Amino acid sequence: MKIEIPFPHQEVAQTRTLPGSFYADPEVFEAEKQDIFLKSWHYACPISALADNGAYVTIQILNQQVFLVRDQNDEIRGFFNVCPHRGHQLLEGSGQKRVITCPYHAWSYDLTGRLVAAREGGKSRTLVGSGICLKSVQVGTLASFVFVNLDATAEPFADYTAELARSINNVIPDLTDYKVRESVGYFGGDYDCNWKIAIDNYLECYHCETAHKSFCDMMDVKNSTFSLHDNFIYQFVPSGGKETNAAYSINLKEDALDGHFWFLFPNIIFSIFPGTKNFSVSWVDPVSAVSSLRKFVTMTPDGISKEREAARSRWGLEVLNEEDRQLCRSVQKGMVQRGFDMGYYLVDPRGNLSEDTVRHFHRIYLKWMFPVVSKV
Ligand code: FES
Ligand SMILES: [Fe+2]
Repeated sequence: MKIEIPFPHQEVAQTRTLPGSFYADPEVFEAEKQDIFLKSWHYACPISALADNGAYVTIQILNQQVFLVRDQNDEIRGFFNVCPHRGHQLLEGSGQKRVITCPYHAWSYDLTGRLVAAREGGKSRTLVGSGICLKSVQVGTLASFVFVNLDATAEPFADYTAELARSINNVIPDLTDYKVRESVGYFGGDYDCNWKIAIDNYLECYHCETAHKSFCDMMDVKNSTFSLHDNFIYQFVPSGGKETNAAYSINLKEDALDGHFWFLFPNIIFSIFPGTKNFSVSWVDPVSAVSSLRKFVTMTPDGISKEREAARSRWGLEVLNEEDRQLCRSVQKGMVQRGFDMGYYLVDPRGNLSEDTVRHFHRIYLKWMFPVVSKV
């Protein structure tokens, strides 16, 4: 599908933002599926869901069904969840299997994806051993999280995230002691907006003083910094150092104090929030041109206070997230107004108000969507 940029290329992601139509047009959304999301990394599940040999988890990315399984040699593998025979879905939900048998005609596959049994009659014994196997997807891990990529030719996860993983490790070297907690973290909910509006909003703290009063009371946002990298953006927001503040109470001796936020293109966010020690992955699932879903999974060390962790999560969901959802909802309406064509950036390479981060996101976006134009 050929999408045109309806404005001079020299302006887009330079002095002006992406055009409004890019945030609302179903054709642009279709192109993004093909050029970005079917080629990019997606959160799949916590590693703990694949603890034992044969444990499997099914997931869906856009309309693509995938499953992950730990094979007999302890390797985590990922496959499209579709039978090569005639296309029936192989697995549902999660569980444990030694052999995967298709419910339709009972072809069976081992945990490396090879066809190992098929009901063949008479003289036709040609299928098993003929090389028929499930089509694999790429798998990678970071901290206790598993990620998948549907594109077999995509850069391996360890390479794509090498610099990011170093940055995270510098900030939180004891992450191996953290575990994913089922009950911790929160579902950020429906965003009535294009996925890029949620990401744009996430990436700048220019709106913090106007929209996030309690966040600003807890943090020292005026001294926040950011750094731009090839495929990620790191933002640091220092603690306000207040045990009592308008968000939730902080234990200045034991808690995580500063905010650390890593955005990995296109839609994954790793973060540390002040409060009981935590490390989260969250992401903005693109649902349609005008809607998306924000989801979170959080890791914590052993022995933290469940009540205080719940208070932190509750504030995140009911206050911060809600403030952002409302902003994003209004901006979505703005994208189709005749009075709006494309926005402006407040650019300041060092300032805490800067929207350089949003511009950087747009530049990476253009590279994926318009590789030829981006080189000019
Ligand atoms: S579709 Fe799976 S065995 Fe026929
Ligand atoms: Fe915000």
